[in-house]
Amino acid sequence: MSEEDDGTVVRRDRFSGGPARSFLSSLDGDARIFAADLAVDRAHVVMLAEQGIVADDEAAKILGALDDVEAAGFDALPDGEDVHEAIETAVVERVGRVGGKMHTARSRNDEVAACIRYRLREDLLAALDSVLALRESLAAVAEAEAETVMPGYTHLQPAQPTTVAHWALSYEGTLGRDAARLLDAYDRTNESPLGGAAFAGTTFNVDRERTADLLGFDGVVTNATDAAASRDFLLESVAALSSVAVTCSGLAEDLVFFANRGFVDLDDDYASTSSIMPQKKNPDTLELVRATAGDAVGAYQALATTLKGLPRAYNRDLQRATVHVWHATDFVSEATEVAAGAVATADWPAEALADAAGEDFSTATGVADALAAAGLPFRTAHEIVAAASETGADLDAVDAAAREVTGESLSELVDPELVAAALDPVESVAQRDSTGGPAPDAVRDALANVLGGIEADQTAVAERWEALEAATDALDAEVATYA
Ligand code: ARG
Repeated sequence: MSEEDDGTVVRRDRFSGGPARSFLSSLDGDARIFAADLAVDRAHVVMLAEQGIVADDEAAKILGALDDVEAAGFDALPDGEDVHEAIETAVVERVGRVGGKMHTARSRNDEVAACIRYRLREDLLAALDSVLALRESLAAVAEAEAETVMPGYTHLQPAQPTTVAHWALSYEGTLGRDAARLLDAYDRTNESPLGGAAFAGTTFNVDRERTADLLGFDGVVTNATDAAASRDFLLESVAALSSVAVTCSGLAEDLVFFANRGFVDLDDDYASTSSIMPQKKNPDTLELVRATAGDAVGAYQALATTLKGLPRAYNRDLQRATVHVWHATDFVSEATEVAAGAVATADWPAEALADAAGEDFSTATGVADALAAAGLPFRTAHEIVAAASETGADLDAVDAAAREVTGESLSELVDPELVAAALDPVESVAQRDSTGGPAPDAVRDALANVLGGIEADQTAVAERWEALEAATDALDAEVATYA
């Protein structure tokens, strides 16, 4: 290497050190986008060569150096303010000044935005995979437990009998929308900011569509300032992840409560014991799932507060925005997977659930419905059943209450057989067969749509994974032509 070709620093003299150096640096946290940056560099260099902005042999040298940098690994990178600077320095160390051509027609601003989007795609798809696993577990519970009657709660008080299947599908429904939110976030994340440069575009004849295509992005973020500066895709992604975490926290809380009452038997793999009380089997994993909402919503708040009021175009605050997102995706995906495992392996003790299903006169609404169906105004029926609930909550109590409220005996108002049926939790559930109700037939009808929805989302996620893999292969093949 000639004397003048030994340039090993990206930017000489200015900003090369000082007491704030480590405060400025994001290098440690950038391990997460090391692979992304290599891909973004490769796509950019290929595009520069195709556009005649760098010569093919220059591109070949840079691409060869990038292979070496990749092989050496993240830990072998030289010091730098961030992974972008460190990789560029490592390239220049290997091939000399020509390596400096890699940064033609771009800025770290569009570069880092591209890297974050590139990496976040995988994380969002991984989160979607976990959500789909949980939805499958819940659908399997619904299939197996359509007849398993259990108490349903409002205000944590027994309210009406329902079934384990109906409870499970209630969470599947919410998670279906959570998945739709994640897919939306994915599709808006999957757009390329590359070519925006610092914020004001470039004088070079870049082909933004080409780099987008080489990186598997669906299109470009057109406005160069928007491309480099906006992080709404992060906010949207963390909002979607927060929604998943909040849904899972409710599911986890239900399971903790059910376990406490002996309504569900969690597999030992998802329970823990006490270090001092040998008899204890604690639902610790689900308590941790419940807590993950704190991580996700905390990340959302941290991110939103960091982004709030940031002026155009780039500001270094953005460096601190991204870490919140990585934290949220890791915790939420893991918690969701754990929830899926806990649901898939849990046992539902049918007898204990049936015994509890009618407790605290939870069949009362069905009894009132039976009286109203026989022609009584629902308010009168409500009054009779409310009075019965004070005395015995059985057929005799309803009869006495009917006499007290209307002056007529129960049998004058309605066929007492119908009231007796409504007092039975199994009958009570079977009668609530309106669309989306807990009657086994209604649940089975719903289940067909649920399974179809899960399958459609699985296809949507698989297509996106495949598109990413195809783009990686295509970029590798393109890069290989320069070897
Ligand atoms: N590490 C920086 C980040 O994550 C890269 C962009 C630096 N750009 C700049 N203008 N200082 O945001």
